[in-house]
Amino acid sequence: MKTKLSQYLLCGAFIIAAAMQANAQTKTDQAIETKIAGLMKKLTLEEKISMLHANSIFGTAGVPRLGIPGLMTDDGPLGVREDVQQNWAPAGLTTDSATFFPNGSALAATWNPDLAYRYGHDMGEEANARKKSVMLAPAFNIARTPLCGRTYEYYSEDPFLNGRLAIQSVKGIQSQHVAACVKHFAANNQEIERGRINVEVDERALREIYLPAFKASIIEGKAWTIMSAYNKLRGQYCSENDYLLNKILKGEWGFKGAVISDWGGTHSTVDAANYGLDVEMGTEPPYEKYFFANPLLEAVKAGKVSQKTIDEKVHRILWVIYHTSFSAGIPAGKQNTPEHSKTAYDIASESIVLLKNEKHLLPLNTSSIKTLAVIGDNATHQFHSGGFGAGVKARYEVTALAGLQGKLPKSISIKFAQGYSGAFKQHGNIINDETKPADPAMVQEAANTAKSADMAILFVGANRDYESESSDRRDLSLPFGEQTLIDAVTAANPNTIVVVVGGAPYDIGQIKKNNHTIVWSWYNGSENGNALADVLLGKINPSGKLPFTFPASLDQSPAHALGAYPGKNLQEEYKEGILVGYRWFDTKKIEPLYCFGYGLSYTDFEYSGLHTSKTSYTKADHITATVKVKNTGKYAGKETVQLYISKVGSKVERADKELKAFKKVMIPAGGSADVNLNVAVSDLAYYDVAAKKWVVEPGKYKVLAGTSSRDIKGTGVITVN
Ligand code: BGC
Repeated sequence: MKTKLSQYLLCGAFIIAAAMQANAQTKTDQAIETKIAGLMKKLTLEEKISMLHANSIFGTAGVPRLGIPGLMTDDGPLGVREDVQQNWAPAGLTTDSATFFPNGSALAATWNPDLAYRYGHDMGEEANARKKSVMLAPAFNIARTPLCGRTYEYYSEDPFLNGRLAIQSVKGIQSQHVAACVKHFAANNQEIERGRINVEVDERALREIYLPAFKASIIEGKAWTIMSAYNKLRGQYCSENDYLLNKILKGEWGFKGAVISDWGGTHSTVDAANYGLDVEMGTEPPYEKYFFANPLLEAVKAGKVSQKTIDEKVHRILWVIYHTSFSAGIPAGKQNTPEHSKTAYDIASESIVLLKNEKHLLPLNTSSIKTLAVIGDNATHQFHSGGFGAGVKARYEVTALAGLQGKLPKSISIKFAQGYSGAFKQHGNIINDETKPADPAMVQEAANTAKSADMAILFVGANRDYESESSDRRDLSLPFGEQTLIDAVTAANPNTIVVVVGGAPYDIGQIKKNNHTIVWSWYNGSENGNALADVLLGKINPSGKLPFTFPASLDQSPAHALGAYPGKNLQEEYKEGILVGYRWFDTKKIEPLYCFGYGLSYTDFEYSGLHTSKTSYTKADHITATVKVKNTGKYAGKETVQLYISKVGSKVERADKELKAFKKVMIPAGGSADVNLNVAVSDLAYYDVAAKKWVVEPGKYKVLAGTSSRDIKGTGVITVN
């Protein structure tokens, strides 16, 4: 009785607190509206239009007469980009170095939304210190093809994992009163012809695969700005796409902030203005000739764009300014703090994926090693900048070799051989040039070094010149003749550990076949080498899981299997529909090289007793699935429990299974945890194209708990009435 009473009281207190918060929010919103209305009355049409386009490479004009600042944007997503001159050359400042945060797919491999929040929060602090009001991040287009040059910037092939991370990244950035600009809206899934390609995607795939993370970042993350993509969708450029911008984003999702074009991604004045773009950005002056500058003024005067439309855009920009530069309590910002380094380190250390550890060479038994060969360009390569696209001027970046040198016992002598050259320069855009084959002299030197050591660690893979904005990779093969090097080093020393660095899937089939120990790492930020060394040494037990499928060959991958990439005559039909990533592999029963969600640990986890809170649910209910996870090995470790749902006997096409919840838990050696995973029954819906709404089918669903999409440890069945 007493507990019931205290529960009621607690519940009541929560309701009152929530109501007070909502009330305070309404008052703030009203105050902002009043202030905006006041400014709107004072602005001339010319001043309003001056706010709607770039006036420098990353900025827009304010109205000094009224004390209105411009928007000061900067790239993400790897950290706050260094300041540049008008021609993109570095500005040469001494104040613009930054923390380099791990790339998007690294963050996704942590499966840890708390880390996504910390990433956003810390980048927001650095943005404030550098006086930036809009961070052009996070970026999270779906990994439709493994070849997309920006896969490393993005998160995943799965819309749910994508969305959970996007929400927290946005919340983190905006906690610092800096606007997140989520990008690139929408269906910018390849770099080949990104500025001209027309994407034809069916409505279900659009709603179920390509839009959910955007929707989540707007509705749950409450992102204040969004960037329209370069490509066309259903015949209209995304920057002038009435359906995407007006109907879905501003209509259905109630977006109140500003739509910013990608740089040079605006193609018209009247259509773009009427179909939902708010701000035109670009690189080259003269800015007064931009579509949203003098031509827009003319269009208003000619009655082709209404004053009301202009006012709505200015309202949106002022609304963003009142949440950023004009907001109360905007923090001063911080740059390169130890806390930021710790965030970079924590993300890196949770992102590294242990792919194979057959001989238990890892964690390293340092007492049995006197000489260690460290081989490969990626042992000394830095990843904070390169290629075409956003990088950061990292205050520092620890390479893999430096990390090992700093952390291995001094009794171990390290011998380094470069093994291959990772130098790469793209000639023209669209598709990567071929890289140079192996250099026999370098390979020989590496093999000799490996032979003379007790153990060899090979650092191979790609780099940020090879994976790059504006071009896609030509195929999945490892670049720089690396396979020759790997074979030679493995033959020279059977105790060879292979660490592959990349931001996207590669064909590592030969390595999987021939090597017993494989680690996957990423463009892992300022603390890259420290995190890698700590994983190899066992100070960190690896817990990363792949955020996308590694196909065994390119033709397994859906867009490639169906000849639906890179498009013909600038038309690209997404023929695979909803079957993207593991949805395709699992439904078509194709065995990939490594599946979505895969990743090992130095310990073992045993799953048992999967059950759900009920067996029968209504459409308004929440399902709680509980599974016991026991750490049966000798190391403490983190495990990401993944919950997939599969509709039994659906009347529409369905993927074999879809990720609906996940949770990362730390379990001590010998310990166990009851892991609860929650799914709203409404999240089991498919998008009914004819009815234009989400529909939950009644009937039976399988609930699957696993360590990856293919290693399912427990199955239950529920019914939805
Ligand atoms: C990219 C954007 C980036 C912008 C500014 C464009 O080429 O697509 O992601 O924010 O440049 O650097």
